Amino acid sequence: MAIGRIGVSFIIFVVISLRYIHCAFIPKDEYLIDCGSLTNTTIGSRVFVADVSLSSTLTTASNNLVSNSQNSVPSSYGSALFRTARVFTSPSSYSFPIQVHGRHFIRLYFFPFVNGSSNLAAAIFGVSAQDVVLLDNFQPQAESATVKEFSLNITRDTLVLKFVPSGSTSLAFVNAIEVVSIPDNLIRNTAQIVNPRQKYEGLSGQLLETIYRINMGGPLVLPNNDTLWRTWETDEIYLHKSNISQVTPTYTGAIKYVKGGATQETAPNVVYATARRLAFVNMASPRLNLTWWFNVDANSKYLIRFHFCDTVSEAAGKLLFNVYINTLSADKNFNLFNLANGSLATALFMDYVLEAKDVSANLSISIGTSDSLNALPDAILNGLEILKIDGFASVVESTGSKKNFGILLGSILGAVAVVIMVVIVLSLVLRKKKVAKHDWKTWAPFSIDGLTSRSTGSRTSNETAFTIAQKGILGYRIPFSMLQEATNNFDENMVIGVGGFGKVYKGVLRDETQVAVKRGNPTSQQGLNEFRTEIELLSRLRHRHLVSLIGYCDEKNEMILVYEYMEKGTLRTHLYGSGLPSLSWKQRLEICIGSARGLHHLHTGQAKAIIHRDIKSANILLDENLLAKVADFGLSKTGPELDQTHISTAVKGSFGYLDPEYFRRQQLTEKSDVYSFGVVLHEVLCARPVIDPTLPRKMVNLAEWGIKWLKRGELEQLVDPGIAGSIRPESLRKFGETIMKCLADSGVECPSMGDVLWNLEYALQLQEFDSSVSAINSTNRISELSPLVQSINASQGITSGEVDALSLNDHSNVSMDNVFSQLINSEGR
Ligand SMILES: *[C@@H]1O[C@H](CO)[C@@H](O)[C@H](O)[C@H]1NC(C)=O
Ligand SMILES: *[C@@H]1O[C@H](CO)[C@@H](O)[C@H](O)[C@H]1NC(C)=O
Repeated sequence: MAIGRIGVSFIIFVVISLRYIHCAFIPKDEYLIDCGSLTNTTIGSRVFVADVSLSSTLTTASNNLVSNSQNSVPSSYGSALFRTARVFTSPSSYSFPIQVHGRHFIRLYFFPFVNGSSNLAAAIFGVSAQDVVLLDNFQPQAESATVKEFSLNITRDTLVLKFVPSGSTSLAFVNAIEVVSIPDNLIRNTAQIVNPRQKYEGLSGQLLETIYRINMGGPLVLPNNDTLWRTWETDEIYLHKSNISQVTPTYTGAIKYVKGGATQETAPNVVYATARRLAFVNMASPRLNLTWWFNVDANSKYLIRFHFCDTVSEAAGKLLFNVYINTLSADKNFNLFNLANGSLATALFMDYVLEAKDVSANLSISIGTSDSLNALPDAILNGLEILKIDGFASVVESTGSKKNFGILLGSILGAVAVVIMVVIVLSLVLRKKKVAKHDWKTWAPFSIDGLTSRSTGSRTSNETAFTIAQKGILGYRIPFSMLQEATNNFDENMVIGVGGFGKVYKGVLRDETQVAVKRGNPTSQQGLNEFRTEIELLSRLRHRHLVSLIGYCDEKNEMILVYEYMEKGTLRTHLYGSGLPSLSWKQRLEICIGSARGLHHLHTGQAKAIIHRDIKSANILLDENLLAKVADFGLSKTGPELDQTHISTAVKGSFGYLDPEYFRRQQLTEKSDVYSFGVVLHEVLCARPVIDPTLPRKMVNLAEWGIKWLKRGELEQLVDPGIAGSIRPESLRKFGETIMKCLADSGVECPSMGDVLWNLEYALQLQEFDSSVSAINSTNRISELSPLVQSINASQGITSGEVDALSLNDHSNVSMDNVFSQLINSEGR
């Protein structure tokens, strides 16, 4: 009892305190910079530090520091920041040490004024952060102040903000910069896709640019009144027909926060306390929609966040309404009361993703009366954020139920709530101290590379090396210029592969990371689809045995994919035709196991299976340690819906590897990959091309020819003579068996990739087992082989599970612990 009471009073204490302290979240990283200024500038309670005071090496500033004495300054928030600017005539960057990885706001202030020879209105430039393009060919609007806000998950210890003038005669400039950490839970990983209704995943790694942030029916909220120093505009100018709406009276009670709902940082209280509502409510009025219009960029996808708080209902549960985005239904009979666990005046939000295909230059947001008989003709909206999503993320299974919403919110926020409470309490304690330390914090060391290097005349240190995330954030845009540099302007000598899609170049980035740069042929439409498929799939798939995508470039109609560099090239070149030393049996088995694991992950690692469709030895790549990774996802398709067993599609893939069943029926299942993988296993065993027209007719097609020998149990006819002597017969037998299962006549008999993996692991165990004990010579092994193979021949027709059981019994002398621990270890990554 006593503990309970303490708990309750603790919560009340926090809630009450928050109502009076509007900036409860204390960012770990907080850089506020007034660029080009000689003195610090105070805006409300925030001090923007003059950038000249930050670098002792800054000697000649006259070129770069421009003041705006003649021009009037726009009377917006932070207008004092627009009196000076830092101007760059060559690529230059600011570096900020980052104390906590995670989401940060990056705000860039621009006001293009004219002062003497510097006409900032003519500036066109790009800005990048980490490896991400924030602004590309950006020209700030003349005579107006612009603040661009981005939120980026920073995964490095240093954030390099780079300004690059577009073209040699152009300028870049900036008036002020903020780099501030924000709570990671502000952006959740998942959201609801509007069309088709599916779950969107991968938001937490993505770059977001704030396009609109609106306080519906409420006042303008300036950064000083926001919990995270954001600006919330008023909504009148976006409202379509204001005469069908009314502004709700500002709610004066306490806004409630529930598990799974908004937090204090999601939006300031005033956003939830004010709202726009349909007029004529509670009357027998016609069904109506209340609509706002926004101009957006048609080629992007957006995260749209609705803020709701039912401050209007008298009785609970009557406020039901519909929500539309671009006339697509986002939610029907939206029920705030349920989301708020049955209480009114609770801060809630909903996230939707509108895919680029559904976006046009005018974006409409509507709330409208529900058809439900229980509902009053009423609808409200408290706030709205429209954030542009950069980079690609993923689509997972259809969901479509609001229950998920609650569970999702609950599980994420539940964990975070505790942390936030601790932070809040700490913040109350530390607040006084923090104010004293504020100055020190904001001018924590950072450098202005462009300027320091210019004064020393060094060109090379002028260029900030971009480092590419090998892990973590993915699917980011990489500037074309960087790829030109990395590949020596797409030098033919750097070509390491040519395919249907285009050429693959080896590249070296500035931080000396080696990459493979696949440059698509821009004329092919099929190329464009494959390009997108590959980015979308690879940015959501991370696996040790799948080739990682580092980034992409779609500047100037380019279709370039940048992958991790695979030193040893394709499996194919190690098998035949290249004169490379032949791989040992163990190496071959390990490569097969690695690629099987990659494929197994493709098939089972996501809610919906992904079918590769183009498995072949040329799409299995090897790194410097011969670790195998599956590559080339351009043809991949997401697997069938749960209620279907296959998807119908035009036949694609590579001749010689195609599953005949897929070919005949044009139906795609995971089993088509298993078949192709069986052909690869065959290739590995025989070390010959799958189609070799120079051979006698019967032997041209490896799969057809090989299966005959396999069925007869005469594997020795097939084995690569280069290694035949070193293969233990049990291992070979198991391998042959695995091939036969993969190439089974019908998909139903064909094993899953998991089974294949298991069998290959077992083949490896059999190869390694007691290799130290026995010194069987090669002739012995081959002669032992046939009878063993014959015995499985006799057992044909039983299911794959039984075969497993049988073959285990056959080898009862093998330590099962050994086999299983190997399996467990290899899976327990
Ligand atoms: C913003 O804060 C100031 C005091 O800092 C207060 O007077 C004003 O009413 C607040 N505005 C809003 C919209 O909350
Ligand atoms: C509201 O807008 C949606 C989407 O445009 C439309 O389907 C619906 O009929 C509209 N409802 C009313 C009452 O106009």
